Amino acid sequence: MKGLILSGGAGTRLRPLTHTRAKQLVPIANKPVLFYGIEDMAAAGITEIAIVVGDTHQEIRDAVGDGSRFGVKVTYIRQEAPLGLAHCVLISRDFLGDDCFVMYLGDNMLEQGLAEFIEQFEQQHEERSDQHLDVSSESDPGLWQAQILLTPVDNPSSFGVAELGPDGGVVNLVEKPADPPSNLALVGVYIFDSTIHEAVRAIEPSARGELEITDAIDWLIQSGHRVSHQMLEGWWIDTGKKDPLLECNRLVLDTVIRRVDGAVDDSSKVEGRVVVSEGAKIVNSTVRGPAVIGADTCIENTFIGPYTSIGGECEITDAELDHSVVLDGCRIEGVSRITDSLIGQHVQVTHSPERRRVVRLMLADHSHLELG
Ligand code: G1P
Repeated sequence: MKGLILSGGAGTRLRPLTHTRAKQLVPIANKPVLFYGIEDMAAAGITEIAIVVGDTHQEIRDAVGDGSRFGVKVTYIRQEAPLGLAHCVLISRDFLGDDCFVMYLGDNMLEQGLAEFIEQFEQQHEERSDQHLDVSSESDPGLWQAQILLTPVDNPSSFGVAELGPDGGVVNLVEKPADPPSNLALVGVYIFDSTIHEAVRAIEPSARGELEITDAIDWLIQSGHRVSHQMLEGWWIDTGKKDPLLECNRLVLDTVIRRVDGAVDDSSKVEGRVVVSEGAKIVNSTVRGPAVIGADTCIENTFIGPYTSIGGECEITDAELDHSVVLDGCRIEGVSRITDSLIGQHVQVTHSPERRRVVRLMLADHSHLELG
């Protein structure tokens, strides 16, 4: 089993952060989203992974390298334009060969690990091969060609949607339907055998001009191939927008194990699930977990409230923050209270010394600012 991680998208819904940074590298609990996917694959025993990259390829290569730090071998495949998920499969043909593979969307996060999902698929494949069944005979349903993960959602029109038949099997799949046949959305994790290569060559681009993987899987079903499904257990978040990203940060911080490597002075309190990374200093401040404080960050006369991730090399002084993600190299001074916020790298938020209430701004394109 090989791994294919799709990280080619432009991340338009996370602008302005994604003007300068790949959306798959935005951190959750101070670790890039993409790393969780790679680690998950490694944990499931996959060692050969290709990452499909687009315009932000250099940044992804710099962050992930050859994969050795994750115990895997990473190959990069360049997609010249975002032409769809099935197009990613099309251009990865040489890497994939005739092997089965798990395909994972690089900005998706799942609570459930991949191991069980992969096991279900492999078990069925192995059992069938052991029994030497004639897969072409009519009485034998044969091997599964694909496996998908489904979950009920409130807004199925924003996803690929599955329709189940009377026996509980998937009978029809449709991408972002105006009139959804069910509320079961396709989660961004799929397993395929080599039959998918025929499918991605057979389909036509959708109305949004992309080769949809949903259409390719539907082609498998309509051509008489077998597609099995599993229902998702636990949470699943597409981190491509601010509020889901903050929610994901909250869910992951809830699982963090307390660890204080940095320095905490006597007049500070570090309460609950908190990581204080090496070289960080907490001076006359309270950090109430769950929270993570990055390496070499200095927190002084400040309250850091629950569900906050502060990146590395930040300086936070005379401030209050909670339920926020702050990336590396920021300076926040004399500001209270920052909440529900996502702050990019090297941002400065400071207080004007003038008595008049003035606001001086230098904001990137597509910034969002909500003043109280
Ligand atoms: C893609 C797929 C869709 C799937 C979704 C999961 O949508 O096309 O079928 O349900 O990922 O995140 P997109 O993110 O391209 O809108």
